[in-house]
Amino acid sequence: MERTLCIIKPDGLQNDHAGEIINRIEREDFRIIGMKKSRLSRHAAEHFYAVHKERVFFNDLVNYMTSGPVILIALERENAVSHWRTVIGATDPAEADAGTIRKLHGVNKEKNTVHGSDSPENGMIEISVFFSEQELIEQR
Ligand code: RTP
Ligand code: MG
Repeated sequence: MERTLCIIKPDGLQNDHAGEIINRIEREDFRIIGMKKSRLSRHAAEHFYAVHKERVFFNDLVNYMTSGPVILIALERENAVSHWRTVIGATDPAEADAGTIRKLHGVNKEKNTVHGSDSPENGMIEISVFFSEQELIEQR
């Protein structure tokens, strides 16, 4: 079993898509092993997206990710990382495949509704940033 971190980003909550996204998670056969609502601090958002800190969009991205609450969801499934990235679609909603969450709900390349980890290693790391071992409860 592989793990990935989903974040329902501020626009996803603002536009009332959280329920539909959680429903999609279930329909795609993921197990939710942890879930909580949070408001990211500036420090947390900068750390989370540190890989992008030299990019021109970094400051806007941090402002956006701290602009409202998010829902953090730790997911488990076979091929969780690649499957979730297929479900969410390309970074830019305009380029995302039909039926993907970003195509359905994304506002623009920044406000793209959901996050997905980009490798199994980063999935484990990102989940451990936001969840203690005690907060992660396997289905079985
Ligand atoms: P994420 O990490 O959030 O799942 O998104 P991703 O892998 O599809 O895209 P990534 O390249 O990691 O970019 C992280 C987030 O930064 C924002 N972004 N804005 N204005 C822009 O050109 C731009 N490019 C990226 C998006 O919110 C993107 O998801
Ligand atoms: Mg990324």
